[in-house]
Amino acid sequence: MQELDTLIEQSNLKTSRSECIRDLVRELIDENRCVQPDAAVVATLTLVFDHHAHDLQERLHEIQHSFCDTMISTTHIHLDEHTCLEVIILKGRAQEVQTIGLKILSTKGVLTGKLFLTNTDDVLGGMRS
Ligand code: NI
Repeated sequence: MQELDTLIEQSNLKTSRSECIRDLVRELIDENRCVQPDAAVVATLTLVFDHHAHDLQERLHEIQHSFCDTMISTTHIHLDEHTCLEVIILKGRAQEVQTIGLKILSTKGVLTGKLFLTNTDDVLGGMRS
C-alpha cells in the first residue's frame, strides 16, 4: 500500500488510491476479455525495423495484404537513415488479431514492437455475427 501511495504521488496523477485500484481492476478485466478468442477487439501494432533487412518490407507488405479485412490502417515513419517505424491498426476477433500481430512481430528483421489490444464488445454494436 505504501509503495502504491508513493507511486501515485510520484506520478503526479490527481488520483486517489481507490481510483487507482479501480482503474487497475478495469484494466485487468479488459485484458482478460481480450484473451477470449472470440472477443471483438481493436488493436495497435507498433513495430520498428531496419529497412535494409533483406526482403523485409516486401514480406510485411505481403502479410498485410493477406489479412486486409483485419488491417484498418498503416502509418510508416522513417526514424533515421536505416530504421522505420510502423503503426498498424487492426480490428477483428482477438485470436485472429493476436495471430497476425505475432506473425508480423516474429518476421525476421523486425527489431522490436508491441501489440496492444482493446476489447470493444461493450462499446461497439454490430461486431458480433
Ligand atoms: Ni522507412
